[in-house]
Amino acid sequence: MKIRENYSLKALNTFGLDAKARYFCTLHKLSGIRTLTAWQQEHPDLPLLFLGGGSNMLFVNDYPGLVVHMRLETLEVLGQDADYHYVRAGAGNNWHEFVRWTIDQGFAGLENLSLIPGTVGAAPMQNIGAYGVELKDHVYEVQALDWRTAELRDFSVDECCFAYRDSYFKSVEPDRWLIIAVVFRLPRHPQWKTDYAGVQEQLQDKVLDARMISDAIINIRQTKLPDPAQIGNAGSFFKNPMIPVVQWENLKVQFPTMPGWPQQHEVKLSAGWLIDQCGWKGKREGDAGTYAKHALVLVNHGNATGAEVWNFAQGVIASVQDKFGITLEPEPRVL
Ligand code: EPU
Repeated sequence: MKIRENYSLKALNTFGLDAKARYFCTLHKLSGIRTLTAWQQEHPDLPLLFLGGGSNMLFVNDYPGLVVHMRLETLEVLGQDADYHYVRAGAGNNWHEFVRWTIDQGFAGLENLSLIPGTVGAAPMQNIGAYGVELKDHVYEVQALDWRTAELRDFSVDECCFAYRDSYFKSVEPDRWLIIAVVFRLPRHPQWKTDYAGVQEQLQDKVLDARMISDAIINIRQTKLPDPAQIGNAGSFFKNPMIPVVQWENLKVQFPTMPGWPQQHEVKLSAGWLIDQCGWKGKREGDAGTYAKHALVLVNHGNATGAEVWNFAQGVIASVQDKFGITLEPEPRVL
């Protein structure tokens, strides 16, 4: 496995930012991990970053350590029981191609997660979700490697501590575990989720199957969200904030049209709405801006630097704080 120096990450992050990795390599086989542990022993002070599709990263600076591009791309049908089909996907598989592969096999479950950018291995990090389905709903286990000791461990779905855009791997022990594969259990008797705004309208009264729902989701995403191949972005740039019920009731008096979705003990707000109300939709400062059709998506119109995008994000955070007293949290990892 070759370790290169001063490698441009422009083609490897969906914002299209021209950050450089001090060191860079591509991991095609698990055996390559030995090279990484040896490298780490030689460079104990330098950090190491595993990169999937680069769809959830904002490189504000060049990366001072080693960036490892994950390319483990195996796919296997493991078997079935009365309720589920089980499939195992290597971390380096492109997420959307994997979803369509499951549909080609005749398996359902992941259709609502169609066209999410990124890789299979990155998906558990932030428990990707869309249109009423989250990754955790269909995970059986996550196979991860403690890259410092080369110990392999299977995390059951409970051990992954999945929550809204969060997981054990993201929050409890970041940078320790390298996700190498995910085992999914896909229902043999699926219940379609089509109640999210806009999905039912696309499908009308047709007899449903996974491919049809996937196609409808692709349509919706293509009309609302920018394609990273055309315009750099990392999907939603902020998480939808959760606030206490009392705060929600007060805000509702002041802003009666504010959308909110009651959760167990809190209310989930729409970050897109809050940002839109502050007048940021379609705004641009140099090449950094928000997407004209969705205020929650920050975009790189061409040659923005990570620092410019981050500076723009600070402006958005400050105005939402001023107007609504709510602190937005970035969804992507800011490096
Ligand atoms: N809205 C506005 N103005 C905007 C954008 C949105 O007012 O410019 C309001 C509308 O009221 C709209 C509501 O926000 O009804 C919700 O918008 P949308 O349905 O697009 O969903 P979202 O909450 O903004 C979340 C996920 C998306 C996911 C969609 C669909 C987060 C942070 N984002 O967005 O995930 O695709 O729901 O399920 O939870 C991602 O994580 O990168 C991502 C794209």
